[in-house]
Amino acid sequence: MSEYAEIDLGNGSRSKLQILHGTEGPSAIDVRPLYQSNGVLAYDPGFKSTASCKSAITYIDGEQGILRYRGYPIEELAKKCTFTEVAHLLMLGELPYAQALGDFTQTIHDHNVLHEQVLSFYNGFRRDAHPMAVMVGVVGALSAFYQDLQDYSKSEHRHKAAIRLFAKMPTIAAASYTYSIGRPQRYPDNRLDYSSNFLQMLFGRPNQAYEVDPVLAKAMDLLMILHADHEQNASTSTVRMAASSGANPFACIASGIATLWGPAHGGANEAVLKMLEEIGTPANIPLAIKRAKDRNDPFRLMGFGHRVYKNLDPRAAIIRDMTKAVLKHLNMENDPFMAMALELEQAALADEYFIEKKLYPNVDFYSGVLLRAMGFPSRMFTALFAVARTSGWVSHWLELKNNEHGIDRPRQIYVGSGLRHVDR
Ligand code: ACO
Repeated sequence: MSEYAEIDLGNGSRSKLQILHGTEGPSAIDVRPLYQSNGVLAYDPGFKSTASCKSAITYIDGEQGILRYRGYPIEELAKKCTFTEVAHLLMLGELPYAQALGDFTQTIHDHNVLHEQVLSFYNGFRRDAHPMAVMVGVVGALSAFYQDLQDYSKSEHRHKAAIRLFAKMPTIAAASYTYSIGRPQRYPDNRLDYSSNFLQMLFGRPNQAYEVDPVLAKAMDLLMILHADHEQNASTSTVRMAASSGANPFACIASGIATLWGPAHGGANEAVLKMLEEIGTPANIPLAIKRAKDRNDPFRLMGFGHRVYKNLDPRAAIIRDMTKAVLKHLNMENDPFMAMALELEQAALADEYFIEKKLYPNVDFYSGVLLRAMGFPSRMFTALFAVARTSGWVSHWLELKNNEHGIDRPRQIYVGSGLRHVDR
């Protein structure tokens, strides 16, 4: 039986709006009839109280610190699955077993090489360009390459586009790095899994063998799993909005990369490391905390706080443990960045401001320390995030095949000048 909420609109009219329930999580009031029936808009800048769609991919309970992909807790997926399996789960709805995993892996292998002509795009960029700038350009340019299967009402065409994006993204990201340092890039090696392949393309030299360190490959796979999807975050919402117009999928994902780049989103792990460098020594932590609390100071604790989590981001705890394990493996147990991060976390979590505002470490707080230890240059941190998140973006893009509400078109409250006339 349908439930309704009746709302007094303050202008003498009332509106009867349906209440919608998902499998879990808060219910939502369906405000769609508001404008049609009453000529009133809902106002929610920043979408803090808005469910923009129905989705069956990822569930988050920010108060409890819960994250699940297609029903599976992130902790179980991180412990028991590979990233390729998780990507299959996100994109196709189920964890793959035996034959399905083999077929999925084979399809990725069939599509992980770049068209040689795509490589010529890199030469148009300055060597010092940020890898995310290069990735936005190159991924957008892919829309000019795959014009063979563009009837996206057909599931075969949709699936091919999603696989092409997912399979090529590590190659594209690695090339944005190798181009910046002038090193020829190795091709993907289909004997390796997705994450190991990314590592060998990033760090391997074309003229010598590259042994993938299994501990680092495991850490990379884990980072990929943890960054794979996060429901309607800014970049995913951007991809969905671009896709709502029927735009080319490669262009849609390029828009997601552009959004992810920002320091309030995926760029935060790079910003965390910069912040730790700036703080310099544990003795300066109290000053950093003081500055972060000062409303008149733009300084914020990067890697702290989250729009949805008002509890520890479950991904942060997993990355913190993995960071300790990797540092031990690399004989870097006294890494000064890790020491600073641990101390900063403790100091912030004991501070009234952070307690009251429920500001906890997020996924980015430790990932920068981990990636730095693994040899990643800081400008590649967000690029790695983009590789992982491509699995989520394409899953949302695939889900949109049932886009029952057509093009996304928010409205506004107009606050500009009233009618004027050109006085001449
Ligand atoms: N340091 C100090 N104060 C903070 C921080 C922080 N990192 N984050 C939030 N606050 C304060 C805000 O100033 C605000 O204070 P007020 O109530 O006095 O105005 C209050 O906490 C609530 O913060 P909002 O900005 O309203 O929270 P919002 O949900 O809009 O922002 C965000 C979330 C952008 C992540 C924010 O916490 C932030 O900027 N964090 C640092 C950047 C970061 O780590 N981003 C990565 C996010 S995870 C991801 O995208 C993968």
